[in-house]
Amino acid sequence: MKIGICPGSFDPVTMGHLDIISRSRKIFDHVIVAVMINPAKKTLFTVEERIELLKRATADMDHIEVVGFEGLLADFARLRGATAVIKGLRAVTDFEYEFQQDLTNKKLNPDFETIFMSTISEHMFLSSSIVKQIAMFGGDISNFVPACIVEDVKKRICEDKNGRPSAE
Ligand code: PNS
Repeated sequence: MKIGICPGSFDPVTMGHLDIISRSRKIFDHVIVAVMINPAKKTLFTVEERIELLKRATADMDHIEVVGFEGLLADFARLRGATAVIKGLRAVTDFEYEFQQDLTNKKLNPDFETIFMSTISEHMFLSSSIVKQIAMFGGDISNFVPACIVEDVKKRICEDKNGRPSAE
């Protein structure tokens, strides 16, 4: 069985993420959506919350599993016997960062590959950070995140504005 991993922070999951996850199912028998820790990012949602939002957003997709993992992606890939990691590329600007991660991961675990999948043009500009910024200033995020999580994002942004302690 060919296993692929879609890793990310997913804070929160966007339509761009969903597109990559869904298309990955065409290549792999089983796709693990892994909510990883990115130490460089302060998150809006806890890992558990992000997993819950992702599970809801992918409820109608088959061959999908959503899990959290605190550690190296290279170790997670080994643990789960994954053939490859799939990363979405939006623009050339993503490439340097992704290439650096790919080379690092290959050194840590030479047994798995990274596949770069280009996003569809509608999602070229989309990121979780952009979504949070739009929501923070009261903009409409309904085209950018799955309908079933829109209220969760708006509510959390509102709580944050009112001084909620950070998620992690
Ligand atoms: O959605 P993001 O924040 O761009 O995803 C980045 C992520 C979480 C995939 C990356 O930070 C990661 O793999 N974190 C796990 C720790 C790790 O393996 N670091 C070494 C890779 S350079």
